[in-house]
Amino acid sequence: MAKINEFNAENDITVRSADGGDLSRIIALDGQISGITKPEYWQESFRRFGGLQDGRHFLVAEKKSLIVGFIIGEIRAWEFGSPPGGWVFSLTVDPDTRLCGVATMMFDTICQCFRQAGVNKVHTMTDRDNITVMSFFRAQGMMAGSTIPLEMDLTEPGSPS
Ligand SMILES: CC(C)(COP(=O)(O)OP(=O)(O)OC[C@H]1O[C@@H](n2cnc3c(N)ncnc32)[C@H](O)[C@@H]1OP(=O)(O)O)[C@@H](O)C(=O)NCCC(=O)NCCS
Repeated sequence: MAKINEFNAENDITVRSADGGDLSRIIALDGQISGITKPEYWQESFRRFGGLQDGRHFLVAEKKSLIVGFIIGEIRAWEFGSPPGGWVFSLTVDPDTRLCGVATMMFDTICQCFRQAGVNKVHTMTDRDNITVMSFFRAQGMMAGSTIPLEMDLTEPGSPS
């Protein structure tokens, strides 16, 4: 799969395929926003999605040589019985660079990659209490789908949690 490299002169943002040198900044940005620093998780994510394999996308947004956001997604076929579709499962923008269209540019770019691969739907999941993320996806035109997440606590009764 070819590397992505899109420049937008209006906000001086480049959206491009991530490379290994971006990882330390991605780890720091995620740590700052989520409050948990998880280097092994991001190294594994980069190994799985950053290798320019067909259908897998790990993109960063860069402004004046600083990584200000990232998005990860892939095409999944017959997941939960759905026909092949794009899934976005990680999206973050630096708090200092928000509301300037960075996430929109990354989302548009990944959707274009999905389209070019022949899929006609994009899916994501988010915490229903995360109003910022919900507002962003709603602004892109995303709406509630037909599937719902189910979960169950696996802790044995009486065991320490
Ligand atoms: C959600 C997020 C990615 C949006 O990034 P962004 O670059 O600021 O988004 P954009 O500038 O492209 O916003 C596009 C539209 O989304 C909506 N939007 C974005 N942020 C919003 C907010 N805080 N409140 C309301 N609407 C918002 C607006 O409609 C906006 O369009 P407008 O600026 O014309 O009003 C960013 O706020 C973020 O990283 N939040 C934290 C993400 C997170 O919790 N990650 C961990 C779990 S994955």
